Amino acid sequence: MRSIASRMSVMSGEGALSVFARAKELERLGRSIIHLELGEPDFHPGPSVVESVAKALADGKDRYCAVAGVPALREEIATYLQRTRSIGVSADNIVIAPGCKAALFFAMMALLEPGDEVLYPDPGFPGYPSITLGLGAVPVPFELSPRHHFQPDLAEIASRITRRTRMLITNSPGNPTGTVYMDEVQRGLAELAVKHDLWVLSDEIYARIIYGGEYLSMLRYAGMKQRTLIIDGFSKSFAMTGWRLGYTVAPPEVAAALALLAINSYTCVAEFTQYAAIDALRDREGNTPRMVSEFARRRAQFVHDLNQVPGFHCEPPAGAFYAWVDIRGTGASAEEVSRILLEDAGVAAIAGGAFGPSGEHFVRFSFASSVENLREAVARIMKVSTAWQRTLEEK
Ligand SMILES: Cc1ncc(COP(=O)(O)O)c(C=O)c1O
Repeated sequence: MRSIASRMSVMSGEGALSVFARAKELERLGRSIIHLELGEPDFHPGPSVVESVAKALADGKDRYCAVAGVPALREEIATYLQRTRSIGVSADNIVIAPGCKAALFFAMMALLEPGDEVLYPDPGFPGYPSITLGLGAVPVPFELSPRHHFQPDLAEIASRITRRTRMLITNSPGNPTGTVYMDEVQRGLAELAVKHDLWVLSDEIYARIIYGGEYLSMLRYAGMKQRTLIIDGFSKSFAMTGWRLGYTVAPPEVAAALALLAINSYTCVAEFTQYAAIDALRDREGNTPRMVSEFARRRAQFVHDLNQVPGFHCEPPAGAFYAWVDIRGTGASAEEVSRILLEDAGVAAIAGGAFGPSGEHFVRFSFASSVENLREAVARIMKVSTAWQRTLEEK
């Protein structure tokens, strides 16, 4: 009988994409929607990056190219990581992928056996448990709780490690909470990884988007170099979501496995985008710091405004561009709140359950949108908040 492979039934989609689809449908019906559902900067790469992609094409850089990525880009990434993250790696440690998601997928495919257990943050990026399940491995969530300011709880993680645990996924700054893991927490995670001989998959896609302080990569801790894979890319820090450019930093034997997976799947990433990415990394126009200071301004305003909404509570995130709002005070469920927001207020946001069971009482708003949009969004939310205020009064 013809059938779809069973692994497909255990993988899941993404809440953000389904809210986006419904929001688009409402727009087609003539409704005005403020899109705060997708994790996409409302910026574009600077003119020099756009010029370099055009130049690369004019120079004929549109061929099959090196499987692991063009050497000039991999060297530039090594220089960039040294400059921005104080970590010493070489081009041989780096494999370019078509986006961070693909990088995550292949890294997990290279390292996990069926039945292996994978520790991952809950709430967290939905791909972590989905890919784990798709590979026949077992996702084991650790909670990012408001009680611990959404920091990983070392005691909880230690208690979940078994003989089958193979990998620990970290994501700092994290989606959806915006948590930047504290130094002592990361040191504790590194110690656990060494003690139990785990791989660490450190998703550092938001590393450049932090609101103060120095970014500490997982690779900086003792014993990490031989067991850590960094996932990063151009989607968030360089506002290049549609370019589909990401990379993995890995020990050489893992980088070789990732190159083999590239040969067996995407062959190589588009050559001209890789040349333009070199310009993005050099960032002579200062695009990334400019974007981040604009995000900081929006964060201050938006978080302040959201906290005026009856029943909403939001701590300012230390990184990324999401407001993670505790909606318990509304007396309604997060699904109900986000449904009212979209259908009645025309504000698209995501019910936190899309990021795991611990997101149940939260709604995620992206503040990668203009100040005017964010102000208008809160004004609209204020208007519909009477819906849950009434329910509360009736209770
Ligand atoms: C934590 C995290 N990892 C990975 C990704 C995927 O990034 P890319 O667009 O480069 O595939 C995202 C995108 O939202 C993310 O939030």
